[in-house]
Amino acid sequence: MTAFHYQQGELFAESLSLRELARHYGTPLYVYSRQHFEHSYREYSDALQGCDHLICYAVKANSNIAVLNVLARLGAGFDIVSVGELERVLAAGGMPERIVFSGVGKKADEMRRALEVGIRCFNVESEAELERLNRVAGEMGMKAPVSIRVNPDVDAQTHPYISTGLRDNKFGIDIAKAPEVYARAAEMVNIEVVGVDCHIGSQLTDTRPFLDTLDRLLALIDRLEADGIALHHVDLGGGLGVRYRDEVPPSTADYIAAVRKGLGERALTVMFEPGRSIAANGGVLLTEVEYLKLNPHKNFAVVDAAMNDNIRPALYGAWTEILPLSPRSDGEERHYDIVGPVCETGDFLAKDRALRIEQGDLLAVASCGAYGFTMSSNYNTRGRAAEIMVDGDQHYLIRERETVADLMRGEHVLPE
Ligand code: LLP
Repeated sequence: MTAFHYQQGELFAESLSLRELARHYGTPLYVYSRQHFEHSYREYSDALQGCDHLICYAVKANSNIAVLNVLARLGAGFDIVSVGELERVLAAGGMPERIVFSGVGKKADEMRRALEVGIRCFNVESEAELERLNRVAGEMGMKAPVSIRVNPDVDAQTHPYISTGLRDNKFGIDIAKAPEVYARAAEMVNIEVVGVDCHIGSQLTDTRPFLDTLDRLLALIDRLEADGIALHHVDLGGGLGVRYRDEVPPSTADYIAAVRKGLGERALTVMFEPGRSIAANGGVLLTEVEYLKLNPHKNFAVVDAAMNDNIRPALYGAWTEILPLSPRSDGEERHYDIVGPVCETGDFLAKDRALRIEQGDLLAVASCGAYGFTMSSNYNTRGRAAEIMVDGDQHYLIRERETVADLMRGEHVLPE
């Protein structure tokens, strides 16, 4: 599926010219494709036909309520990590009974709100969290549905910052220790043990680590069953990779087929928490070339998007395609670093790209639909970009560009 494609020498989103959208809304501008989100969600749901399942989209990847709403309409569940994400899902029409709550640092008031609305499950990451949840649920006269996030000690073979399943990570409970924690949870009056979950890392390009993890989780489920603790679901987390450059991740269909094979005939609900594989290639960041700076040893294209809009290159050295919206056949091709106006050497969107560009040209930073806008900041007092969604030949403003007044809201000078 290529929602973003060239047509008559111009880059389009579905049926619309990105150049026209950039002129209409200004830059920097995040543009999403509804078609892409729906298509990539359906790749999961189609592959899971006939199997008891729940697909909980990882809200952190792209949390705009229009995006959440598009997925909620397809019946998606949601994986949240804060009460803020919980409120977004509810505002977008997501169903509480399809929400799982992950994260190592849940506060008591976040637990309270999640219990009040009746979420599907808390993905508990430590014994201390379990104790707190038992207490909070007790105060409310409720039982909290719980899955323990286990750390299977599997190497996801991805970037160290986004690898989460190794023993030394802060996430989850060591799988060897899990039976003990489940036994403790099963004794707690205000806890109901319902499942097991994990998330071993992000941008995985091989099914092997997922399948090794599944084997370990199933062995744990058997062991717990022998101890008299029956689980109803297994949640494999997110992590399926996408193509940014030349990666060849397994297709969603192949990944799910392999998991189904690994599950065999077990009467378990299987759950997933995909973020990137739903959203990454459903969005681009449009930017205008402000200046070309041709230095003796290096050329820079200074653009109006920066690390505050898309921090992935600075933070992970992430590579994404840079696509001119209207490629030129004239002019000289040069190698450029694409940099923003922020006062940091790390403020780059791409390095050493061969491009034929002039001042005023428009570029798309590709594959920015996941962990793009959601990781943006106001560094250098830069307002965050506007976000729009394209649907066929229609376009909708789904987040207004921040103004300088927005940026100072809530600040106060000291009294005279
Ligand atoms: N479930 C849990 C518990 C997670 O921590 C994550 C992502 C996901 C699901 C979704 O994983 P995905 O399907 O998107 O791989 N900012 C980084 C990625 C951090 C991922 C954090 N956890 C990046 O831009 O590459």
